[in-house]
Amino acid sequence: MSAETVTELKMEKITMQDLPGVGAATAEKLEAAGYRDLMAIAVATLGELIETTGMSEAVARKMINAARDSMKMGFETGTDVLKKRQNVSKISTSSQNFDTLMGGGFETGAITECFGEFGCGKTQIGHILAVNTLKEDPDAVAVYIDTENTFRPERIIQLANGAGIDPDNVLNRIMVARAYNSDHQMLLTEKIETLMSEQKKKVRLVVVDSLTSHFRAEFIGRGTLAERQQKLNRHMHMLSKIANTNNICVYVTNQVMAKPDQFFGDPTVAIGGHVVAHASTFRIYLRKGKKGTRVAKLIDAPNLADGESCFEIQEGGLRDVN
Ligand code: GTP
Ligand code: MG
Repeated sequence: MSAETVTELKMEKITMQDLPGVGAATAEKLEAAGYRDLMAIAVATLGELIETTGMSEAVARKMINAARDSMKMGFETGTDVLKKRQNVSKISTSSQNFDTLMGGGFETGAITECFGEFGCGKTQIGHILAVNTLKEDPDAVAVYIDTENTFRPERIIQLANGAGIDPDNVLNRIMVARAYNSDHQMLLTEKIETLMSEQKKKVRLVVVDSLTSHFRAEFIGRGTLAERQQKLNRHMHMLSKIANTNNICVYVTNQVMAKPDQFFGDPTVAIGGHVVAHASTFRIYLRKGKKGTRVAKLIDAPNLADGESCFEIQEGGLRDVN
């Protein structure tokens, strides 16, 4: 047996309770706070652990280090990354133009953000992604975190009929939660991990519609901006972790505001600033086009050319416009 296999075997045997300073009580506290495996501890911050368990800084530091040491963390080869990317699947928008723009559809393992004015189709895209995710994978479930009370099962039925899949079957596999404020929204996001670990749900898609409305409403005025951004940043990190570690497609919608000091070009900017922009893997600016059409503009993507596509929202789904 090579040295590497020996360490690998040893690594598998380490559990939460083998970490220094973690007894049964602490393990329970950690579990209750959503830290269910070594990876969660390894990527946690000192402050987080101290807050949830009441442990001293020294113990928390030791624990994080031990968790990090016990895992294969850090660098991997380009070949490993390529292998992982082979697990990435693309969820169709049901418009061929839009899919092509996105390199085949909305990617799993990433966050895709759509921003644009009211009525441009952000929520419709969330609905169609849910239907198509569940059509493509009969074992999957979709999670829909609804902050504006705009999730409509009736709309899902229409879209499922349009996609040629049994509407009842689809509705049964969409887990909807209404978020009443930003804390609630963040808590629901954490619960997604419970859904997977305890209820053994195979979550393939997470929709957060809208990502920013509560944050925008709760933090008003210049003085609260930094606080809002920090909280939003934590939320984005959580979503990004969920996407990456479980190969889930995370779709978030975002509103825009008018930028009063912009004289040339489009005067709208997305809410959430750099925090949301940086955490999103793909960013799409959606706007209303001529004769009821919609234009999606890809403005940020790691491996795709920027570009535009035009589609229509129809009863059965999104359809191409030429
Ligand atoms: P806000 O949440 O208000 O910011 O807007 P949004 O970007 O989420 O817009 P949404 O996705 O709710 O789009 C609403 C628009 O979709 C409507 O104004 C209609 O134009 C279109 N739409 C919704 N349902 C249907 C439908 O069944 N048939 C057709 N043809 N269009 C629909
Ligand atoms: Mg909406």
